[in-house]
Amino acid sequence: MLDEGICCRAAMKGALLLVSSVGILLPGVGSCPKKCLCHPSSNSVDCSGQGLSTIPPELPPWTVTLLLQDNRIHWLPALAFKSVSLLTTLNLSNNSLSNLAAEAFYGLAHLQVLNVTQNSLLSIESSFAQVMPGLRELDLSSNSLSVLPTSLGKPWENLTMFAVQQNHLLHLDRELLEAMPKLRLVLLKGNPWKCDCHLLGLKLWLERFIFEGGETDGAICRLPEPWKGKDLLSIPHELYKPCPLRHQNLVPSLVQQPGSVPQDAQKSPENNSGQHDPLECENRPKPKPTNLRHAVATVVITGVVCGIVCLMMLAAAIYGCTYAAITAQYQGRPLAPTRKSEKMGSEEPMDSSPA
Ligand SMILES: *[C@@H]1O[C@H](CO)[C@@H](O)[C@H](O)[C@H]1NC(C)=O
Ligand SMILES: *[C@@H]1O[C@H](CO)[C@@H](O)[C@H](O)[C@H]1NC(C)=O
Ligand SMILES: *[C@@H]1O[C@H](CO)[C@@H](O)[C@H](O)[C@H]1NC(C)=O
Ligand SMILES: *[C@@H]1O[C@H](CO)[C@@H](O)[C@H](O)[C@H]1NC(C)=O
Ligand SMILES: *[C@@H]1O[C@H](CO)[C@@H](O)[C@H](O)[C@H]1NC(C)=O
Repeated sequence: MLDEGICCRAAMKGALLLVSSVGILLPGVGSCPKKCLCHPSSNSVDCSGQGLSTIPPELPPWTVTLLLQDNRIHWLPALAFKSVSLLTTLNLSNNSLSNLAAEAFYGLAHLQVLNVTQNSLLSIESSFAQVMPGLRELDLSSNSLSVLPTSLGKPWENLTMFAVQQNHLLHLDRELLEAMPKLRLVLLKGNPWKCDCHLLGLKLWLERFIFEGGETDGAICRLPEPWKGKDLLSIPHELYKPCPLRHQNLVPSLVQQPGSVPQDAQKSPENNSGQHDPLECENRPKPKPTNLRHAVATVVITGVVCGIVCLMMLAAAIYGCTYAAITAQYQGRPLAPTRKSEKMGSEEPMDSSPA
């Protein structure tokens, strides 16, 4: 509906422009690629379901909506759409694309809706945001994506809808979604989400997103086994095992206040004194509690070890002294002392030391 409105307005503008400025000069205006239906009134060109394997040449320059769905397009050359730079809606659904290269979309500065559902996408390049800065809807559903680049957008200021349903995604970096500040709808279902520590960032992002009024169809975990079939959002934070390297400090710090964490995450992030925003947890190390505990443990252990060592040294010293004294006593006066000691009594040790 909305698209049609935009199209109509754009169509009128485009028509006026063309009629007034060029007229006879453009021989291509009236022409239409062989297998396409051109609708100048709505500025749309429909080439769907024609068995096309490439983008048809000679697309009318006034094209605002280009429908290429249900074809066999498997590759997009660089600048594939350079002749239709006014494009706002591009439908490539149900084709055979296996890679989406940003350079194919060079020149589409006005593109608002890109539909690449039902292809065979295995990969997608980063830096789409530079090429299509005005994009509002990106639908990548029903492909074979197992990984998405950390940054697609930087930031993608107008993107409101992002869909990756029915792919092979295990993880999704929170950074990718953070680069889409206007997002209202995120569709994630139908992926084999692996709900381990690496997905905690997505969980925290989704909690905030929903709190702020965003909509999502949820991420259902496929792994690990005990959480199979559960919604990522329903799994308590405390149950996330710490990730090895860079996430090491996260879980201990969350476990520290198990009661307060879930509420914190649901609460307004603004009033969590800014820095304590749950979304900051993943990247912001919280070394203090762990370090404090380490410090205390270190002090205790050091104390105990020192104490033991001191006691041992003391015992050794006492033993050594006693032994030395006794040895000296016997060496100095092999026989006499026994007798003398009988006579001299308590003064005996004093006498033996100089000898
Ligand atoms: C996809 O396109 C083919 C033609 O290339 C068509 O036969 C098929 O019905 C389409 N599939 C869907 C789900 O629309
Ligand atoms: C793309 O084509 C499909 C049909 O294959 C249609 O259902 C969908 O609405 C189209 N999307 C856009 C944005 O035109
Ligand atoms: C893309 O096309 C599919 C059908 O092929 C449709 O279901 C979906 O809604 C479209 N996405 C957008 C954003 O228009
Ligand atoms: C985002 O949308 C606004 C409002 O329609 C528009 O003025 C702005 O140019 C758009 N941003 C980009 C990068 O296209
Ligand atoms: C809660 O957040 C609002 C808006 O960010 C701020 O004005 C207010 O001072 C905060 N209240 C507290 C108790 O931090």
